Amino acid sequence: MKKKKVFVTGITGQDGSYLTPILLDAGYEVHALVRLRGGDRPVIIDDLAREKKVIFHTGSLTDLSSLSTILEGVRPDEVYNLAAQSHVVSSFKSPVETWDVNYYGLGRLVNEALRVNPDVRIYQASTSEMFGNSPAPQSENTPFDPQSPYAMSKAMAHTDFIMHKRASMGAFAVSGILFNHESPRRGRDFVTRKITFSLAKIAFGLQECLELGNLNAVRDWGHAEDYVRAMFMMLQQDTPEDYVIASGESHSVRDFVEIAAQYFGINIAWEGEGKAEIGRNKMTGKIVVKVNPEFYRPREVNFIQGDATKAHTKLGWKPRYSFSDIVTEMVKSDQELVRREYKL
Ligand code: NAP
Ligand code: GDD
Repeated sequence: MKKKKVFVTGITGQDGSYLTPILLDAGYEVHALVRLRGGDRPVIIDDLAREKKVIFHTGSLTDLSSLSTILEGVRPDEVYNLAAQSHVVSSFKSPVETWDVNYYGLGRLVNEALRVNPDVRIYQASTSEMFGNSPAPQSENTPFDPQSPYAMSKAMAHTDFIMHKRASMGAFAVSGILFNHESPRRGRDFVTRKITFSLAKIAFGLQECLELGNLNAVRDWGHAEDYVRAMFMMLQQDTPEDYVIASGESHSVRDFVEIAAQYFGINIAWEGEGKAEIGRNKMTGKIVVKVNPEFYRPREVNFIQGDATKAHTKLGWKPRYSFSDIVTEMVKSDQELVRREYKL
C-alpha cells in the first residue's frame, strides 16, 4: 500500500523532535521544511537526517515561492505546522518578523497545502498564550485576550486560517491549543530550561547566580512527549475540531526554581519582594537567585491553567508525565549536559 505523506514544519524545534518518531512509527513518509540557517538541531533530528528517514526540503514559512514548489512536489496528505517565532519576549522586539512567520506563514502554508490537495488534513500549533489573562481554568470556550505580538499573531492565525477555512470551505484544519510543555530539548531561553541549565552550572561552581524576571508568573506545565501525542490524535479523528491540551495543574516560576534546586541539594530561602527578591542557599547563605527587571515583560500573562476535559473525553488523551517527573528529567539531563560540555 502507498505510504501516506506528511509535511512537518518546525521539525528542528522541541515538538518536531518528539512528533517525528511517532509519524515514522505510524508508517508515514515524512517530509520536513528546514531553513538554510538553522538553530541547534536536537540530536534526534540529525540522526534521522543521517539515516535518511526524513526527506528534508529547504525553505521558509516567510517565502511563498519555496513553499509553493515544495508542496507541489510533495502533495501531502497531512500537514503539521509547528514552525514559529515562538519566543514571547522576542515577539515584543521583532513583531513584524513574528507576524510574518506565525500569521502570514500559516496563511501561505494553508493556502498552498489546500491548493495541491483539497482533502489535506492540517494541524496548527496554537497556544494558551491566546487566552492571556482570561480567567482560569481556560477551555476551548474561553475568550481570547492576547498580551503580546506572539499571542496576537497566533490568535489571528487560528481565527483566519483554521476556523475560517474550516467554516467556509469545510477544510480539515484543526488547532491544538497547547499549554506550556517542556523537556530536556526545550530551548535554553525558556524559563524552565534556563532554570535547570543554570542550576546545574551553579551546582558545579561554574555560575554564581541565576537571574530571572517575574517569579510570580504561574504556568500549567506539561511534557512535550505527551503533548505531541495529542497532536497526532487530533488529525486521526473523523471530524476536525480544536482541543485544549493541558495538565490542569499550575505552578509559579518560584516553585519550579525551588523544586529544581532541591535536586542539587540546594534549599532556597526567599527574602524581599518584587525587584528586590533574592533566593539564598539556606546552608551556605550564598545568593543563588536574583530578580533582574531586564527579564520582565512589557505585558505579562500572570496565571494560566488549562481545562483539557474535551481532550480527555473525545480523544481519550491523558498525560503520562507528572510535574515532578518533568522537573526531574530536565535537571538530570542538564546535569549530564554540563558535565559533558565542560568536560567535568
Ligand atoms: P521551538 O523549539 O521554538 O521551534 C520552532 C521551530 O520553528 C524551529 O524548528 C525553527 O527552525 C522553526 N522556524 C522558525 N521560523 C521559521 C520559518 N520562518 N520557516 C520555517 N521554520 C521556522 O518551538 P516548540 O516549543 O517546538 O513549539 C512548536 C510550536 O508549538 C510553535 O509553533 C510554538 O509557537 C507552539 N507552541 C509551543 C508551546 C510550548 O510550550 N512549547 C505551547 C504552545 C504552542 P530553526 O531550527 O531553523 O530555528
Ligand atoms: N523566558 C523567561 N526568562 N521567562 C521568565 C524569566 C526569564 O528569565 N523569568 C521569569 N519568567 C516568566 C515569564 O515572564 C513567563 O511568565 C514565564 O516565566 C514563562 O516564560 P517562558 O518559559 O518564556 O514561556 P511563555 O509562557 O512565555 O511561552 C511559552 O509557552 C507558550 C504556551 O503558553 C512558549 O513556548 C510559547 O511559544 C508558547 O506558546
